[in-house]
Amino acid sequence: MTDDSQRRPIIIDTDPGQDDAVAILLALASPELEVLGITAVAGNVPLPLTEKNARKVCELAGRPDMPVYAGASRPLMRPLVTAEYVHGKTGLDGPELPEPTMPLQDKHAVDFIVETLLEREAGTVTLCPLGPLTNIALALIRAPEIATRIREIVLMGGGFFEGGNTTPAAEFNIYVDPHAAQTVLDAGIPLTMIPLDCTHKALTTAKRLAAIRAIGTPVAEAVAALLGFFERFDETKYGTDGGPLHDPCVIAYLLKPELFSGRHVNVVVETGSELTMGMTVVDWWRVTDRSVNATVIRDVNAEGFFDLVTERLATL
Ligand code: RIB
Ligand code: CA
Repeated sequence: MTDDSQRRPIIIDTDPGQDDAVAILLALASPELEVLGITAVAGNVPLPLTEKNARKVCELAGRPDMPVYAGASRPLMRPLVTAEYVHGKTGLDGPELPEPTMPLQDKHAVDFIVETLLEREAGTVTLCPLGPLTNIALALIRAPEIATRIREIVLMGGGFFEGGNTTPAAEFNIYVDPHAAQTVLDAGIPLTMIPLDCTHKALTTAKRLAAIRAIGTPVAEAVAALLGFFERFDETKYGTDGGPLHDPCVIAYLLKPELFSGRHVNVVVETGSELTMGMTVVDWWRVTDRSVNATVIRDVNAEGFFDLVTERLATL
């Protein structure tokens, strides 16, 4: 058993979302991690649903004690764009999950992020954004002094050689709030970006989904139903066996970084042109003199990743 002194404290910022849900379950199933709280942001579906969905997932994991906070209801500058066409109208279509009974915290998510970073020992807390970066950017704008207190930001977002999934150029999380993404990239915080180039190699194939279903627990059955719904859009779009399991890659990276590989490069977000709005311009071949501001992950050992996810889900 991992004692508290060795557990890595994290805050998950999320817009559940079926893949967010699996990421939250993976984190709650992993004793190496201490989830200090879950902050919800508008993204896949509007904030009233993302915060409720986060509470539904905590209760599914048997963790009604986990504090869930509501954050930004829209991006910094742009109107909210949602993705019911992928996630369904509830954002967690697939299984029938009961309405949550655990309360939503009164405190705003941004206040929780700032206060936690100021109270906790500097350099110990990792932020794990799984949706648009609005809450993280607002926290940095409100309290710039937290930037040097963050151990690392490990986020799912962006794409480069793989292009975009929301426009030809932009991935959803960055597209929804490109200004927030650039604010976070400008903050000088150790940052690892897990883009579509990586997550599109982590497909929920029929074999992998069957292995999760075979666990046979209520959590596993719910996850199989979540992913069975979630994958259909991308299977049709890409003609693949299964869809990309985006957000759990963030948590898996914390647990087994050896499953992933990438390089330290410069990333800039398009915030001017509507044609390429939200594009993450990744200088992978270092053709500019722009300074390194991110570790960008390009590859994942997909078998190892799904073995980890399946093994941990079986413990819930
Ligand atoms: O583009 C994939 C990302 O957008 C994932 O985080 C998914 O949950 C959606 O938020
Ligand atoms: Ca997400």
